[in-house]
Amino acid sequence: MSPIDVSNLEKISTEIFAEADTACVAVAANIAECIRLNDTNKQTTVLGLATGSTPVRLYRELIRLHREEGLSFANVTTFNLDEYYGLNGDHPESYRRFMQDQLFDHVDLKSENTHVPNGLATRDEVIQSCQAYEQAIIDAGGIDIQILGIGRTGHIGFNEPGSGPESRTRLVTLDGLTRRDAARDFLGEENVPRHAITMGVGTILDARKVYLLAWGEAKASVVAESIEGEPTETIPASFLQTHRDCVFCIDEAAASRLTRIRYPWLVGPVEWTPERTRKAILWLSQKVQKPLLKLIEEDYAENGMSDLLTEKGFAYDLNIELFNTTQHTITGWPGGKPRADDSNRPERADPFPKRSLVLCPEPMDDVYCLGGTLHRLANQEHEVTVAYQTSGNLAVSDNDVRRAIELIMEVEQDREDREGVGFARKVEQQLNAKGQFGEDTVEIRHLKGFIRRSEARSSARLLGLKTEALCFMDLPFYEKGRYRRFKSEESDIEQMAELLNNIQPHQLFATGLGHDPLSVPAICFQILLNALARCEDKKWIKDCHIWLYRGPGSEWETHEIDMAVPLSPDEFENKIRGIYQHQTQRSQSPSVSGKRDRNSWNLASDLNRATAVTYDALGMAEYEAIETFKRFKI
Ligand code: GLP
Repeated sequence: MSPIDVSNLEKISTEIFAEADTACVAVAANIAECIRLNDTNKQTTVLGLATGSTPVRLYRELIRLHREEGLSFANVTTFNLDEYYGLNGDHPESYRRFMQDQLFDHVDLKSENTHVPNGLATRDEVIQSCQAYEQAIIDAGGIDIQILGIGRTGHIGFNEPGSGPESRTRLVTLDGLTRRDAARDFLGEENVPRHAITMGVGTILDARKVYLLAWGEAKASVVAESIEGEPTETIPASFLQTHRDCVFCIDEAAASRLTRIRYPWLVGPVEWTPERTRKAILWLSQKVQKPLLKLIEEDYAENGMSDLLTEKGFAYDLNIELFNTTQHTITGWPGGKPRADDSNRPERADPFPKRSLVLCPEPMDDVYCLGGTLHRLANQEHEVTVAYQTSGNLAVSDNDVRRAIELIMEVEQDREDREGVGFARKVEQQLNAKGQFGEDTVEIRHLKGFIRRSEARSSARLLGLKTEALCFMDLPFYEKGRYRRFKSEESDIEQMAELLNNIQPHQLFATGLGHDPLSVPAICFQILLNALARCEDKKWIKDCHIWLYRGPGSEWETHEIDMAVPLSPDEFENKIRGIYQHQTQRSQSPSVSGKRDRNSWNLASDLNRATAVTYDALGMAEYEAIETFKRFKI
């Protein structure tokens, strides 16, 4: 098989950055250069702007350039891509408010030069209002630089699947997946508007330069399809292939599904490191649908891997070696098997019992991602602590709070003890006062946090954990923030470091690597890394193994798995029961990559079962379900 030419495969110019921050600095520098050049020529710069988590760091960098390097926005006009229909500009989730908070209020942009589609135009006015928006862009001289994020349906702006390349600014209906992705911002999917006004794909394509930004593994599939697939209405971002000057600036996680990253041996000669060899052979086995031990030389040769054979010898040897490596990832002893030979086990036998610390960005991540493993650790008598890094209170709906209030009132009234009623009544009044979209008061958030704690306890009990094993950290960054706008601070790191030093774990389970940098798991992971750096000189850290779980809604790819913990049918059922204890999360949990029609509860079981099927197909034993971990070395 001859190699694939990347320039034919990637139909959009793509720059991959190690981190989102570096990408944002580069794009901001280009914007600044454009503004300064236009300023010298006494011309206005017209920027097309986007909302969402993705551009937040870009805006922070533009603000820094303004404050520290004198970049002026006095001659800049902006047009935002979109706005929720029915929200006024003061609504905390309106894109107008978002832009004010994230950029406009911090630079010298003239407010009359900022444009966001009017979400309050009546049905009668809306067509005309959209046409006026198009006209205003034309009158301003057209967009110089358009910034885009990408939704998981492949949408740009709010051009959902089905939007054609000629589409212009208009009223649209939001896709179910898009509304689910916005559910947490709106404190419940039922509060997310059903419609929005968006610039069309055609409007976007008219911009002279386009930068699409994407971070995190959750965007990887849709990014790859947009760049490598055919232009199609199913993925509106793919129409950017027809633009003369469009660049995708993405981080490594978002690039992970591009052919040149995922299957580099198909694209050209590669260095056959042990890691890549493992990845390629596992891929080969899945591609030709043969267990590892049945792969033959022709399979290698026909799939771009003949140089591997030339370098490393016979298919038979390669197959056997990888079979053993994969076999050795499997263990029913996630804390290590005491008094056993551990030379081929993922976790060491000693010390026993271990202090195992499981870090969860939010309650439910524990049972959802490693419920079976936790059950085993507890049964095998390790000292397990589950620390919930944030309270997760933003993910509880007001309706669930009302139910709790009524319960407290009823119990307390019955006992003629009025104190609880006082608190419950106060929260009830606050709920009534804030209305559907208002900010939660501290008391409301506390009560929501307590609800999540009670769910976490009831789930942990099913996993065999004592409730004393649970630690609710309520990290301050979360308590003070909103989704997409969190900022961690010193006190978060201090609290994390204190917990680590108190427990001095022998093994640590955590998540957040490769997630969108502004997401709760990614922020928690960064806090953990900073805290670990502070414990560098402590003795315990030298002997602490860190195991990463992938996070709700996705699993490690087979070649990334260093520990695979099989679950028996009973354990698996118990795990599912544990997930069901998180009653308030039924409609709140983030939806998951590419799975539109499954709620996240079902998805946990789908993923664990799928891993078991994959292992079976590779020629390993057949299990009911498997949870997976990747070793992380600092
Ligand atoms: C919304 C916005 C898009 C944005 C997308 C992704 O749908 N209308 O413009 O690109 O969300 O959001 P995020 O950047 O938070 O992932």
